[in-house]
Amino acid sequence: MISSLSINFSFPLLKPQTIHYGPFKTINIKNRSQMKNYFSDNKKQPKGINGSVVPSPKRGNGSERERGQGIGIAKFLQGKNYLVTGATGFLGKVFLEKMLRTAPDVGQIFVLIKAKDKEAALNRLKTEIIDSELLKSLEEVYGKNYKTLVMSKLVAVPGCVCEYDLGMDPLRANEIAAKVNVIVNSAASTKFDERYDVALNSNTKGPSHLLNFAKSCKNICLFLHISTAYVSDGEAKIIQESPLCMGESNVSRKRNNISENQTSVPSLDIDNEMRLATNIMELVNDSEVAKEMKILGLERAKIHGWPNTYSFTKAMGEMIITSLKGDIPLAIVRPTVIGSTYKEPFPGWIEGNSFHIIRNGKEKWSDRANLS
Ligand SMILES: NC(=O)c1ccc[n+]([C@@H]2O[C@H](COP(=O)([O-])OP(=O)(O)OC[C@H]3O[C@@H](n4cnc5c(N)ncnc54)[C@H](OP(=O)(O)O)[C@@H]3O)[C@@H](O)[C@H]2O)c1
Repeated sequence: MISSLSINFSFPLLKPQTIHYGPFKTINIKNRSQMKNYFSDNKKQPKGINGSVVPSPKRGNGSERERGQGIGIAKFLQGKNYLVTGATGFLGKVFLEKMLRTAPDVGQIFVLIKAKDKEAALNRLKTEIIDSELLKSLEEVYGKNYKTLVMSKLVAVPGCVCEYDLGMDPLRANEIAAKVNVIVNSAASTKFDERYDVALNSNTKGPSHLLNFAKSCKNICLFLHISTAYVSDGEAKIIQESPLCMGESNVSRKRNNISENQTSVPSLDIDNEMRLATNIMELVNDSEVAKEMKILGLERAKIHGWPNTYSFTKAMGEMIITSLKGDIPLAIVRPTVIGSTYKEPFPGWIEGNSFHIIRNGKEKWSDRANLS
């Protein structure tokens, strides 16, 4: 199952310039007011969109919407136990804040954090998450002691998605497997030109390690994986949104569409990509390895039709979890570029490598985006 709502404005350096919802609908939108106008004109809704949007409960007495509870997400969140990755990052932190604010009755939230031990993970939880400006809004919900109350819900778990067992202490892993209902994977290496070996480990293998762990969680009811809209080829056209299949590259997809001879298309074999990275690492000098791995990632991405190492390794991560999911309820969300918070808990919160706006009114992308 793929659920997707992705919006991207036409800033100069990034492609695709798309709005995706349900089956991909692709249009050019230059600013928020154009977007508002677009959506207010129902005639512009493409065929097929209606069927793809899950209708919210009917208005009327007693509906969740009527009671100000949206479509039931906050209700779903309540009382459940979570394992969240990537919470020291931009999006993961926003997710945690929103969850703690809108569903204060959530159960325990295990937060997987890269750290050498429990103490170091706890320290990162406190300094990078709890003490963040973003979480101050929780004072309105939990009162002056919000930090203590929030800490009682969050459990710092040292670990790393690159490791097969997530690097978790086995006792803690058993406890999480027994308790957890929802896994949210926001961990990723988000540098566009990351070393190929590093990006393969966190973006391609990482999600599969987490999915394997999900299979040991007896009460799992959702595995939510955050991907990126740029796993698609980004051409301006209407396409049916679909999962990425193993072995299918952006190059082969395009060739399929125009019915060309497939023999010249390089096949995408994920195991092969991993072996290639390992082999080349062994061949080059230590002093050259970082540079060579960066170059290799970008080269491999281009060969298979992706613009950079990040979107290519994220695409392969999707392929693996889709093929391995078995009966795990899997949702893949594909956002485009998230600039900052829009309204909640306050407008304009931003962190890390996302783009920033220069004072003279011109948009400029920071290091993460300047490779596209
Ligand atoms: N922000 C956007 O515009 C955007 C758009 C589309 C999709 N996404 C997706 O949304 C997710 C979050 O993005 P973001 O902007 O929040 O990225 P971010 O700020 O770079 O955060 C990445 C998070 O992943 C963690 N992480 C990286 N490697 C890990 C590993 N091996 N094990 C455990 N944790 C690891 C990082 O931990 P450390 O702090 O220890 O490094 C950090 O918490 C990613 O999957 C990204 O692909 C983001």
